[in-house]
Amino acid sequence: MSPGTALLVGGSSEIGFAVLLQLLGAAPRRVVLAGRPSGELWWNAEKLRDAGYDVCTTQYDAGLSVDEIDGMLRHACAEGPLELAIVAVGSMSAETFAESLAVNGFGVSLLLRALVQHKPTQLVLLSSAAAVRPRSSIAAYSLGKQLADSTAVLLARQAAETGVRVLVVRPGFVSTRMTADLPVPPLATSAERVARRVAAALEGGRTVVWVPRRMGLAVRVLAVVPRRLLPAAWR
Ligand SMILES: NC(=O)c1ccc[n+]([C@@H]2O[C@H](COP(=O)([O-])OP(=O)(O)OC[C@H]3O[C@@H](n4cnc5c(N)ncnc54)[C@H](OP(=O)(O)O)[C@@H]3O)[C@@H](O)[C@H]2O)c1
Repeated sequence: MSPGTALLVGGSSEIGFAVLLQLLGAAPRRVVLAGRPSGELWWNAEKLRDAGYDVCTTQYDAGLSVDEIDGMLRHACAEGPLELAIVAVGSMSAETFAESLAVNGFGVSLLLRALVQHKPTQLVLLSSAAAVRPRSSIAAYSLGKQLADSTAVLLARQAAETGVRVLVVRPGFVSTRMTADLPVPPLATSAERVARRVAAALEGGRTVVWVPRRMGLAVRVLAVVPRRLLPAAWR
């Protein structure tokens, strides 16, 4: 029996695409890339087609309503059960506080709840270390990530009873286009390393993984250091 559909929401995401490639397995397989139309989305679809996958793209925008999200997912699942769903939506460049909360938090929470209804075998959320340790310099992004991360943690508990496994991925700084203009901090990592950690975490049956591994410890240590003693970007 051929494996079910694999879906990447945030189909242009560098980390999301690296995770997808790591988990996809051999072609042929149906792959759905959901996102806003862009050169990156188109390019990722072409790379998968060249590798022998049956690829379709569908529109996802963080402003979709619950009904529109459901329509998008019904389209994605039209040709077979959803086996793998990766959510890689996020933005540090939203123009307003409200937009950042909507993209990183509210929209992703609605999406996660809708995805669980389609009973994927495995759901992977790209969260962030900032969900656990919010920083003032990226306040709206952190708050949005907190909402998305908490939604996924709660769904992981509820969904386990229905056979859906949820993995929450909490990277620190990953060198991608999202962070291209920022100074590279200690413990920075790459999209490919995130992908390898995700694969290992799934094999180990984990529900939360930090990337790199030491990021979880670093966040716990930073939590007990008075913020005024830290560099401004870490407060
Ligand atoms: N890079 C890091 O240091 C880092 C660290 C921790 C967590 N993360 C998380 O990892 C995930 C992937 O990030 P990345 O580094 O791969 O960055 P990326 O390549 O910029 O991917 C972000 C994705 O979010 C999508 N997106 C942004 N705003 C959207 C909106 N309004 N509606 C729909 N889609 C929207 C982008 O689509 P468009 O191409 O249409 O903009 C893109 O597919 C994100 O959730 C990010 O928060 C990243």
